[in-house]
Amino acid sequence: MMRHLRVGIAGLGTVGTAVVRLLDRHAQALAARTGQRIEVTAVSAKARDKDRGIDLSRFAWFDDPVALAASPDIDVFVELIGGEEGAARAAVETAIAAGKSVVTANKALLAKHGMALARAAEEKGVALAFEASVAGGIPVIKTLREGFAGNAIERIYGILNGTCNYILSRMETEKLSFAACLREAQELGYAEADPTFDIGGFDTAHKLAILTALAFGTTIDPDAIAIEGIETITLADLEAADELGYRVKLLGVAQKTLSGIEQRVHPTMVPKSSAIAQIMGVINAVSINADAVHELTLAGPGAGGEATASAVVADLADLARGSHIAPFGLPVADLAPLQRAPLQMHEGGYYVRLSVHNRPGAAAAIATRMAENGISLESIVQRNVSGSRAKAATLDPVPVVLITYATYEKTIRQALESVVADGYLAEKPQLIRIERE
Ligand code: HSE
Repeated sequence: MMRHLRVGIAGLGTVGTAVVRLLDRHAQALAARTGQRIEVTAVSAKARDKDRGIDLSRFAWFDDPVALAASPDIDVFVELIGGEEGAARAAVETAIAAGKSVVTANKALLAKHGMALARAAEEKGVALAFEASVAGGIPVIKTLREGFAGNAIERIYGILNGTCNYILSRMETEKLSFAACLREAQELGYAEADPTFDIGGFDTAHKLAILTALAFGTTIDPDAIAIEGIETITLADLEAADELGYRVKLLGVAQKTLSGIEQRVHPTMVPKSSAIAQIMGVINAVSINADAVHELTLAGPGAGGEATASAVVADLADLARGSHIAPFGLPVADLAPLQRAPLQMHEGGYYVRLSVHNRPGAAAAIATRMAENGISLESIVQRNVSGSRAKAATLDPVPVVLITYATYEKTIRQALESVVADGYLAEKPQLIRIERE
């Protein structure tokens, strides 16, 4: 008789109910592929009577996810509650302590407690699987941990938040305001319960923290990530980017540098010709640069019930097959402490948008400040000048956009401080880092 893998699911939102449906839909194929029947036997959620469109009467019900995690009647605990503390953390710790493997989609929990949980899982000889925690349906965890075993990774960067990419894409293509696009994303169910997690870059940072550990064999340090959100991006930036051959994306980037691993989340200008620039809407994408493969880009749905459930089911299939691998690819004791490269030492090109009082000598003064700091300009453009007869006084202030060649973060910041001190600017400068393929 075929063995059964008994699964308990805590959290029956969009993803939890989709996991139940997918396991039903592919029951036979999964049994054939893994040699075991993967069977949900128990569930836990907030409201028992809520209509979720699935029959729950066949499962044991637990009001308390921690009690489900401790139940002797399950082999695997699937955590889809969310949140870095509270019930999610307590239930996952309980399941591991009770000798059960855990599958989770909880990026916040892993970013904060991933090392401690992986260590506990190792000690108990159980699995901690989290394919669904980063980029939804894209199998990026497996790709990094298994597919790239024969590579040294130099950089990993990606669009890891569908809400932000949706907002930036809609702003660019439909010329809509930031607020209108955020509202749409919320209505479509992409955004986190608190959308500041999305637009402030924190959701991306949680995911990047996990990818960094896998890519570079280091411990997780979420505090080592420099985070900027997309709130300051305006239509003027998107239009200037378009004219200059770029798109603006919220990227999470982790890169090996001479001073350590640089981790940053910020709006980024990417050349329109790059693979990452083609990713529009709620889609996620991850690009990996490595010595043997050179560059690989994976793209696909990063949020949504079925796509995320696909990743949960893939983890369950691994467990059913008996495949067992250290959660972060190496035993926790062998992960190197993360050496943080300071953002001030970041080296790259910059887009700078200045709102400049239209006085003779203003552009020359800006260019001089750049030159004094050893910054070479790829372009300097005064935008929106409406013909030779336009009077200077009616054009005050005017937008001036600079693109620099590679320089250091501390250098461009220093140059901009001098420009501000010269008194030609009507507003704070807008600075966007450029990421090249
Ligand atoms: N709010 C997230 C996003 C959902 O927009 O991508 C998946 O983590």
